[in-house]
Amino acid sequence: MKTFSELIKEKKINKSHSKEEIDYIVNSYTLGETQDDMMAKWLKAICENSMNFDETVNYTNSIINSGKRVLFDDCDGYVIDKHSTGGVGDKISLILGPILAACGCYVPMIVGRYLGHTGGTLDKLESIDGYNGHLELDRFQHIVKDVGISIIGQTKDICPADKKIYNLRDKTSTIKSFPLICGSIMGKKISEGIEGLVLDVKTGNGAFMDDVNEAKALGQHLSDIGLKFGLDVKYAVTDMSQPLGDYSGQLCEVIESMETLKGNGPNDILDVIYYLGEISLSMAGIDNSKDKINHVIDNGSAYEVLCKMISAHGGDLSKIKYEPKYIKEIKVAKSGYLNFNQTKEMGNSILALSGHQNVINNIHDSQSGFRLFKKHGSFVEENDVIGEMFCMNQSYLNDAIEIFKDSFDVVNQKPNLYKLIYN
Ligand code: URA
Repeated sequence: MKTFSELIKEKKINKSHSKEEIDYIVNSYTLGETQDDMMAKWLKAICENSMNFDETVNYTNSIINSGKRVLFDDCDGYVIDKHSTGGVGDKISLILGPILAACGCYVPMIVGRYLGHTGGTLDKLESIDGYNGHLELDRFQHIVKDVGISIIGQTKDICPADKKIYNLRDKTSTIKSFPLICGSIMGKKISEGIEGLVLDVKTGNGAFMDDVNEAKALGQHLSDIGLKFGLDVKYAVTDMSQPLGDYSGQLCEVIESMETLKGNGPNDILDVIYYLGEISLSMAGIDNSKDKINHVIDNGSAYEVLCKMISAHGGDLSKIKYEPKYIKEIKVAKSGYLNFNQTKEMGNSILALSGHQNVINNIHDSQSGFRLFKKHGSFVEENDVIGEMFCMNQSYLNDAIEIFKDSFDVVNQKPNLYKLIYN
Protein backbone atom coordinates (compact mmCIF):
# COMPACT_ATOMS: atom_id res chain seq x y z
CA MET A 1 0.00 0.00 0.00
CA LYS A 2 1.29 3.45 -0.91
CA THR A 3 1.92 6.02 1.81
CA PHE A 4 -0.18 9.18 2.11
CA SER A 5 2.77 11.27 0.81
CA GLU A 6 3.11 9.02 -2.23
CA LEU A 7 -0.59 9.43 -2.97
CA ILE A 8 -0.27 13.22 -2.77
CA LYS A 9 2.69 13.10 -5.17
CA GLU A 10 0.70 10.95 -7.60
CA LYS A 11 -2.25 13.35 -7.53
CA LYS A 12 0.11 16.25 -8.17
CA ILE A 13 1.12 14.60 -11.44
CA ASN A 14 -2.53 13.83 -12.18
CA LYS A 15 -2.55 10.07 -11.59
CA SER A 16 -5.90 8.58 -10.61
CA HIS A 17 -6.46 6.91 -7.25
CA SER A 18 -7.94 3.43 -6.88
CA LYS A 19 -10.99 2.76 -4.69
CA GLU A 20 -8.76 1.33 -1.93
CA GLU A 21 -6.51 4.39 -2.05
CA ILE A 22 -9.45 6.76 -1.68
CA ASP A 23 -10.84 4.71 1.21
CA TYR A 24 -7.44 4.92 2.87
CA ILE A 25 -7.20 8.72 2.39
CA VAL A 26 -10.69 9.40 3.78
CA ASN A 27 -10.56 6.86 6.62
CA SER A 28 -7.06 7.63 7.84
CA TYR A 29 -7.95 11.34 8.07
CA THR A 30 -11.32 10.72 9.74
CA LEU A 31 -9.73 8.43 12.32
CA GLY A 32 -6.98 10.95 13.08
CA GLU A 33 -4.14 8.83 11.65
CA THR A 34 -3.42 11.48 9.01
CA GLN A 35 -2.95 15.06 10.22
CA ASP A 36 -4.50 18.27 8.88
CA ASP A 37 -1.34 19.43 7.07
CA MET A 38 -1.12 16.26 4.97
CA MET A 39 -4.82 16.20 4.22
CA ALA A 40 -4.67 19.88 3.24
CA LYS A 41 -1.93 19.04 0.71
CA TRP A 42 -4.09 16.30 -0.77
CA LEU A 43 -7.11 18.64 -0.93
CA LYS A 44 -4.97 21.25 -2.73
CA ALA A 45 -3.81 18.61 -5.21
CA ILE A 46 -7.47 17.72 -5.86
CA CYS A 47 -8.36 21.40 -6.39
CA GLU A 48 -5.57 21.59 -8.97
CA ASN A 49 -5.94 18.24 -10.74
CA SER A 50 -9.46 17.11 -9.82
CA MET A 51 -10.74 13.50 -9.78
CA ASN A 52 -12.38 11.61 -12.61
CA PHE A 53 -15.95 10.29 -12.42
CA ASP A 54 -15.01 6.89 -10.94
CA GLU A 55 -12.77 8.50 -8.33
CA THR A 56 -15.59 10.88 -7.39
CA VAL A 57 -18.02 7.96 -7.01
CA ASN A 58 -15.46 6.18 -4.81
CA TYR A 59 -14.82 9.34 -2.78
CA THR A 60 -18.57 9.80 -2.23
CA ASN A 61 -18.83 6.15 -1.21
CA SER A 62 -16.01 6.58 1.34
CA ILE A 63 -17.77 9.62 2.83
CA ILE A 64 -21.02 7.62 3.11
CA ASN A 65 -19.27 4.58 4.61
CA SER A 66 -17.56 6.72 7.26
CA GLY A 67 -20.92 6.68 9.06
CA LYS A 68 -24.33 5.02 8.99
CA ARG A 69 -27.19 5.27 6.50
CA VAL A 70 -30.69 6.09 7.65
CA LEU A 71 -33.68 4.15 6.31
CA PHE A 72 -37.20 5.49 5.84
CA ASP A 73 -38.75 2.42 4.22
CA ASP A 74 -41.91 2.53 6.33
CA CYS A 75 -42.98 6.11 5.48
CA ASP A 76 -46.29 6.53 3.66
CA GLY A 77 -45.13 9.50 1.59
CA TYR A 78 -42.31 10.48 -0.76
CA VAL A 79 -38.97 10.94 1.05
CA ILE A 80 -37.24 13.95 -0.45
CA ASP A 81 -34.69 16.63 0.32
CA LYS A 82 -33.54 19.89 -1.19
CA HIS A 83 -29.98 21.19 -1.07
CA SER A 84 -28.24 24.35 -2.19
CA THR A 85 -24.61 24.71 -3.19
CA GLY A 86 -24.54 27.82 -1.01
CA GLY A 87 -25.04 31.54 -1.12
CA VAL A 88 -25.81 34.71 0.81
CA GLY A 89 -29.28 35.10 2.30
CA ASP A 90 -30.17 31.66 0.95
CA LYS A 91 -32.81 30.44 3.39
CA ILE A 92 -34.82 28.43 0.85
CA SER A 93 -34.29 25.12 2.72
CA LEU A 94 -35.92 26.56 5.85
CA ILE A 95 -39.00 27.48 3.81
CA LEU A 96 -39.30 24.76 1.17
CA GLY A 97 -38.60 21.91 3.63
CA PRO A 98 -41.68 22.67 5.80
CA ILE A 99 -43.78 23.32 2.66
CA LEU A 100 -42.94 19.87 1.27
CA ALA A 101 -43.66 18.25 4.65
CA ALA A 102 -47.01 20.09 4.85
CA CYS A 103 -47.80 18.68 1.37
CA GLY A 104 -47.34 15.11 2.67
CA CYS A 105 -43.65 14.46 1.91
CA TYR A 106 -41.03 13.38 4.44
CA VAL A 107 -37.93 15.56 4.56
CA PRO A 108 -34.83 14.28 6.37
CA MET A 109 -32.33 17.12 5.88
CA ILE A 110 -28.64 16.91 6.77
CA VAL A 111 -27.04 20.29 6.25
CA GLY A 112 -23.64 21.96 6.51
CA ARG A 113 -22.34 24.91 8.44
CA TYR A 114 -21.12 28.10 6.78
CA LEU A 115 -18.49 27.38 4.13
CA GLY A 116 -16.26 30.17 2.81
CA HIS A 117 -18.46 33.25 2.47
CA THR A 118 -21.75 31.29 2.40
CA GLY A 119 -24.13 30.94 5.31
CA GLY A 120 -24.89 27.50 6.75
CA THR A 121 -28.43 26.35 7.47
CA LEU A 122 -27.22 24.75 10.71
CA ASP A 123 -25.68 28.00 11.98
CA LYS A 124 -28.95 29.80 11.26
CA LEU A 125 -31.00 27.20 13.14
CA GLU A 126 -28.55 27.13 16.04
CA SER A 127 -29.10 30.87 16.44
CA ILE A 128 -32.43 29.78 17.97
CA ASP A 129 -31.98 29.35 21.72
CA GLY A 130 -31.89 25.62 22.56
CA TYR A 131 -31.96 24.26 18.97
CA ASN A 132 -30.06 20.98 18.89
CA GLY A 133 -28.79 20.11 15.43
CA HIS A 134 -26.82 17.05 16.53
CA LEU A 135 -29.46 14.50 17.41
CA GLU A 136 -29.01 10.77 17.72
CA LEU A 137 -30.17 8.97 14.59
CA ASP A 138 -33.27 7.39 16.12
CA ARG A 139 -34.47 10.81 17.36
CA PHE A 140 -33.81 12.27 13.87
CA GLN A 141 -35.87 9.46 12.30
CA HIS A 142 -38.62 9.90 14.86
CA ILE A 143 -38.95 13.66 14.19
CA VAL A 144 -39.01 13.13 10.41
CA LYS A 145 -41.83 10.58 10.79
CA ASP A 146 -43.73 12.60 13.38
CA VAL A 147 -43.34 16.18 12.14
CA GLY A 148 -42.47 15.55 8.48
CA ILE A 149 -39.05 17.21 8.63
CA SER A 150 -35.91 17.31 10.75
CA ILE A 151 -32.80 19.37 10.01
CA ILE A 152 -29.48 18.29 11.53
CA GLY A 153 -25.76 18.63 10.78
CA GLN A 154 -23.25 15.91 10.01
CA THR A 155 -22.75 13.85 13.16
CA LYS A 156 -20.46 11.14 14.48
CA ASP A 157 -23.02 8.72 12.99
CA ILE A 158 -23.69 10.36 9.63
CA CYS A 159 -20.84 11.39 7.37
CA PRO A 160 -18.26 12.08 10.09
CA ALA A 161 -15.69 12.22 7.29
CA ASP A 162 -17.53 15.11 5.64
CA LYS A 163 -17.77 16.93 8.97
CA LYS A 164 -13.99 16.86 9.38
CA ILE A 165 -13.02 17.43 5.73
CA TYR A 166 -15.62 20.22 5.35
CA ASN A 167 -13.99 22.13 8.25
CA LEU A 168 -10.53 21.70 6.80
CA ARG A 169 -11.65 22.77 3.30
CA ASP A 170 -13.05 25.92 4.81
CA LYS A 171 -9.80 26.75 6.65
CA THR A 172 -7.53 25.91 3.71
CA SER A 173 -9.50 27.53 0.85
CA THR A 174 -9.99 24.18 -0.86
CA ILE A 175 -13.70 24.56 -1.41
CA LYS A 176 -14.11 25.07 -5.12
CA SER A 177 -13.63 21.60 -6.57
CA PHE A 178 -16.29 19.50 -8.33
CA PRO A 179 -15.35 16.14 -6.74
CA LEU A 180 -15.01 17.60 -3.24
CA ILE A 181 -18.36 19.39 -3.50
CA CYS A 182 -19.96 16.24 -4.96
CA GLY A 183 -18.63 13.98 -2.20
CA SER A 184 -19.69 16.43 0.48
CA ILE A 185 -23.21 17.08 -0.78
CA MET A 186 -24.06 13.66 -2.17
CA GLY A 187 -22.47 11.84 0.78
CA LYS A 188 -24.79 13.60 3.19
CA LYS A 189 -27.81 13.25 0.94
CA ILE A 190 -27.40 9.56 0.11
CA SER A 191 -26.89 8.77 3.81
CA GLU A 192 -30.25 10.36 4.65
CA GLY A 193 -32.26 7.56 3.08
CA ILE A 194 -34.14 9.80 0.62
CA GLU A 195 -35.78 8.77 -2.66
CA GLY A 196 -35.45 12.11 -4.40
CA LEU A 197 -33.23 15.17 -4.19
CA VAL A 198 -33.69 18.64 -5.63
CA LEU A 199 -30.49 20.62 -5.97
CA ASP A 200 -30.36 24.36 -6.19
CA VAL A 201 -27.05 25.04 -7.90
CA LYS A 202 -26.21 28.68 -7.33
CA THR A 203 -24.46 30.80 -9.92
CA GLY A 204 -23.17 34.37 -10.05
CA ASN A 205 -20.77 36.58 -8.13
CA GLY A 206 -21.89 35.24 -4.74
CA ALA A 207 -21.72 31.52 -5.65
CA PHE A 208 -18.85 29.03 -5.74
CA MET A 209 -19.63 28.51 -9.44
CA ASP A 210 -19.76 32.05 -10.85
CA ASP A 211 -20.39 30.90 -14.40
CA VAL A 212 -23.80 29.52 -15.45
CA ASN A 213 -22.34 26.78 -17.63
CA GLU A 214 -20.04 25.70 -14.83
CA ALA A 215 -23.06 25.60 -12.48
CA LYS A 216 -25.02 23.47 -14.99
CA ALA A 217 -22.06 21.12 -15.33
CA LEU A 218 -21.91 20.78 -11.52
CA GLY A 219 -25.67 20.08 -11.41
CA GLN A 220 -25.26 17.37 -14.06
CA HIS A 221 -22.26 15.88 -12.26
CA LEU A 222 -24.16 15.75 -8.95
CA SER A 223 -27.14 14.12 -10.70
CA ASP A 224 -24.90 11.52 -12.35
CA ILE A 225 -23.33 10.66 -8.99
CA GLY A 226 -26.82 10.39 -7.43
CA LEU A 227 -27.91 8.01 -10.18
CA LYS A 228 -24.95 5.73 -9.42
CA PHE A 229 -26.38 5.36 -5.89
CA GLY A 230 -29.99 4.88 -7.08
CA LEU A 231 -31.09 8.39 -6.11
CA ASP A 232 -33.38 10.46 -8.34
CA VAL A 233 -31.77 13.92 -8.56
CA LYS A 234 -33.14 16.98 -10.36
CA TYR A 235 -31.26 20.25 -10.38
CA ALA A 236 -32.04 23.89 -11.00
CA VAL A 237 -29.56 26.69 -11.58
CA THR A 238 -30.58 29.91 -9.83
CA ASP A 239 -29.00 33.27 -9.28
CA MET A 240 -26.66 34.24 -6.46
CA SER A 241 -25.42 37.54 -7.83
CA GLN A 242 -27.17 39.39 -5.04
CA PRO A 243 -28.48 38.27 -1.64
CA LEU A 244 -31.74 36.34 -1.72
CA GLY A 245 -34.59 38.05 0.12
CA ASP A 246 -34.19 41.14 2.28
CA TYR A 247 -32.24 39.69 5.21
CA SER A 248 -28.89 37.87 5.36
CA GLY A 249 -27.34 36.61 8.57
CA GLN A 250 -28.36 34.30 11.38
CA LEU A 251 -31.63 34.63 13.32
CA CYS A 252 -32.89 37.33 10.93
CA GLU A 253 -33.01 34.65 8.20
CA VAL A 254 -35.03 32.31 10.41
CA ILE A 255 -37.47 35.17 11.04
CA GLU A 256 -37.69 35.97 7.32
CA SER A 257 -38.37 32.28 6.62
CA MET A 258 -41.16 32.27 9.22
CA GLU A 259 -42.62 35.44 7.71
CA THR A 260 -42.55 33.83 4.25
CA LEU A 261 -44.43 30.82 5.63
CA LYS A 262 -46.98 33.24 7.10
CA GLY A 263 -47.56 34.67 3.62
CA ASN A 264 -45.27 37.72 3.82
CA GLY A 265 -42.37 36.54 1.67
CA PRO A 266 -40.39 38.79 -0.70
CA ASN A 267 -40.92 38.14 -4.42
CA ASP A 268 -37.48 36.70 -5.20
CA ILE A 269 -37.81 34.11 -2.41
CA LEU A 270 -41.32 33.17 -3.54
CA ASP A 271 -40.23 32.79 -7.18
CA VAL A 272 -37.47 30.35 -6.17
CA ILE A 273 -39.87 28.52 -3.81
CA TYR A 274 -42.50 28.04 -6.56
CA TYR A 275 -39.86 26.89 -9.03
CA LEU A 276 -38.09 24.39 -6.77
CA GLY A 277 -41.44 23.44 -5.23
CA GLU A 278 -42.78 22.44 -8.64
CA ILE A 279 -39.77 20.23 -9.35
CA SER A 280 -39.97 18.62 -5.89
CA LEU A 281 -43.72 18.02 -5.81
CA SER A 282 -43.79 16.59 -9.32
CA MET A 283 -41.06 14.10 -8.27
CA ALA A 284 -43.42 13.15 -5.42
CA GLY A 285 -46.26 12.68 -7.94
CA ILE A 286 -48.16 15.77 -6.74
CA ASP A 287 -49.49 18.21 -9.39
CA ASN A 288 -50.77 21.78 -9.25
CA SER A 289 -47.75 22.67 -7.15
CA LYS A 290 -48.38 26.43 -6.99
CA ASP A 291 -51.93 25.92 -5.66
CA LYS A 292 -50.68 23.34 -3.15
CA ILE A 293 -47.88 25.63 -1.95
CA ASN A 294 -50.26 28.60 -1.62
CA HIS A 295 -52.72 26.35 0.22
CA VAL A 296 -50.23 25.18 2.89
CA ILE A 297 -49.04 28.78 3.36
CA ASP A 298 -52.59 30.21 3.54
CA ASN A 299 -53.90 27.58 5.98
CA GLY A 300 -50.82 27.96 8.23
CA SER A 301 -49.83 24.29 8.06
CA ALA A 302 -46.35 24.88 6.59
CA TYR A 303 -45.62 27.49 9.28
CA GLU A 304 -46.87 25.06 11.92
CA VAL A 305 -44.51 22.34 10.61
CA LEU A 306 -41.50 24.66 10.97
CA CYS A 307 -42.52 25.64 14.52
CA LYS A 308 -43.10 21.98 15.48
CA MET A 309 -39.71 21.00 14.09
CA ILE A 310 -37.93 23.78 15.99
CA SER A 311 -39.66 22.72 19.23
CA ALA A 312 -38.91 19.03 18.63
CA HIS A 313 -35.21 20.00 18.41
CA GLY A 314 -35.41 21.85 21.73
CA GLY A 315 -35.60 25.33 20.17
CA ASP A 316 -37.39 28.01 22.16
CA LEU A 317 -39.91 29.68 19.83
CA SER A 318 -40.52 32.53 22.28
CA LYS A 319 -36.86 33.59 21.90
CA ILE A 320 -36.97 34.02 18.13
CA LYS A 321 -36.79 37.79 18.27
CA TYR A 322 -34.93 40.45 16.35
CA GLU A 323 -33.19 42.40 19.12
CA PRO A 324 -29.66 43.36 18.06
CA LYS A 325 -27.89 45.83 20.35
CA TYR A 326 -26.21 47.77 17.55
CA ILE A 327 -27.69 48.78 14.20
CA LYS A 328 -25.90 50.93 11.63
CA GLU A 329 -27.24 52.32 8.38
CA ILE A 330 -25.49 51.64 5.07
CA LYS A 331 -25.48 54.83 3.00
CA VAL A 332 -24.33 55.49 -0.55
CA ALA A 333 -21.84 58.28 -1.24
CA LYS A 334 -23.23 59.36 -4.63
CA SER A 335 -26.25 59.14 -6.91
CA GLY A 336 -26.57 56.46 -9.57
CA TYR A 337 -27.50 52.81 -9.99
CA LEU A 338 -26.59 50.10 -7.51
CA ASN A 339 -24.27 47.53 -9.01
CA PHE A 340 -23.98 44.47 -6.77
CA ASN A 341 -20.91 42.78 -8.22
CA GLN A 342 -19.16 41.16 -5.25
CA THR A 343 -21.79 39.31 -3.27
CA LYS A 344 -19.06 37.06 -1.80
CA GLU A 345 -17.83 40.15 0.08
CA MET A 346 -21.36 40.73 1.38
CA GLY A 347 -21.20 37.20 2.79
CA ASN A 348 -17.79 37.95 4.31
CA SER A 349 -19.21 41.08 5.95
CA ILE A 350 -21.67 38.85 7.86
CA LEU A 351 -18.82 36.69 9.13
CA ALA A 352 -16.96 39.87 10.20
CA LEU A 353 -19.94 40.76 12.41
CA SER A 354 -19.14 37.71 14.57
CA GLY A 355 -15.37 38.33 14.60
CA HIS A 356 -13.03 36.19 12.52
CA GLN A 357 -11.66 34.03 15.36
CA ASN A 358 -15.17 33.20 16.59
CA VAL A 359 -16.31 32.17 13.13
CA ILE A 360 -13.37 29.77 12.81
CA ASN A 361 -14.62 28.17 16.02
CA ASN A 362 -18.20 28.02 14.73
CA ILE A 363 -19.40 30.71 17.14
CA HIS A 364 -21.78 33.14 15.48
CA ASP A 365 -23.51 36.17 16.87
CA SER A 366 -27.11 35.03 16.54
CA GLN A 367 -28.33 38.62 16.12
CA SER A 368 -25.87 39.46 13.35
CA GLY A 369 -26.76 40.22 9.76
CA PHE A 370 -27.88 42.86 7.34
CA ARG A 371 -31.08 44.00 5.73
CA LEU A 372 -31.18 45.49 2.24
CA PHE A 373 -33.89 47.95 1.19
CA LYS A 374 -32.75 48.00 -2.45
CA LYS A 375 -31.84 45.45 -5.09
CA HIS A 376 -29.16 45.46 -7.80
CA GLY A 377 -29.96 48.04 -10.51
CA SER A 378 -32.05 50.35 -8.24
CA PHE A 379 -31.54 54.09 -8.65
CA VAL A 380 -30.26 55.82 -5.50
CA GLU A 381 -29.55 59.43 -4.51
CA GLU A 382 -26.43 60.56 -2.64
CA ASN A 383 -26.72 59.68 1.08
CA ASP A 384 -29.66 57.30 0.55
CA VAL A 385 -29.81 54.49 3.09
CA ILE A 386 -29.77 51.22 1.14
CA GLY A 387 -29.69 48.91 4.13
CA GLU A 388 -28.55 48.35 7.68
CA MET A 389 -26.17 46.02 9.51
CA PHE A 390 -26.78 44.76 13.01
CA CYS A 391 -25.06 42.72 15.71
CA MET A 392 -24.36 42.47 19.44
CA ASN A 393 -20.69 43.53 19.46
CA GLN A 394 -20.04 47.11 18.41
CA SER A 395 -16.32 46.57 17.87
CA TYR A 396 -17.03 44.32 14.85
CA LEU A 397 -19.61 46.59 13.23
CA ASN A 398 -17.38 49.23 11.60
CA ASP A 399 -15.11 46.65 9.95
CA ALA A 400 -18.10 44.74 8.65
CA ILE A 401 -19.64 47.91 7.17
CA GLU A 402 -16.35 48.66 5.38
CA ILE A 403 -16.27 45.14 3.89
CA PHE A 404 -19.89 45.55 2.83
CA LYS A 405 -19.24 48.96 1.23
CA ASP A 406 -16.49 47.43 -0.92
CA SER A 407 -18.91 44.82 -2.21
CA PHE A 408 -20.84 47.11 -4.58
CA ASP A 409 -20.50 50.22 -6.77
CA VAL A 410 -22.82 53.04 -7.67
CA VAL A 411 -22.63 53.47 -11.46
CA ASN A 412 -23.96 56.03 -13.93
CA GLN A 413 -25.44 53.57 -16.45
CA LYS A 414 -28.12 51.15 -15.32
CA PRO A 415 -26.38 47.73 -15.11
CA ASN A 416 -27.87 44.62 -16.70
CA LEU A 417 -30.30 43.00 -14.31
CA TYR A 418 -29.65 39.44 -13.16
CA LYS A 419 -31.89 36.60 -14.25
CA LEU A 420 -33.22 34.77 -11.16
CA ILE A 421 -33.83 31.30 -12.62
CA TYR A 422 -31.75 29.76 -15.41
CA ASN A 423 -33.39 26.44 -16.32
N1 URA B 1 -22.52 22.41 0.47
C1 URA B 1 -22.02 21.28 1.02
O1 URA B 1 -22.68 20.61 1.82
N2 URA B 1 -20.78 20.89 0.67
C2 URA B 1 -20.02 21.60 -0.20
O2 URA B 1 -18.91 21.19 -0.47
C3 URA B 1 -20.55 22.78 -0.78
C4 URA B 1 -21.82 23.17 -0.41
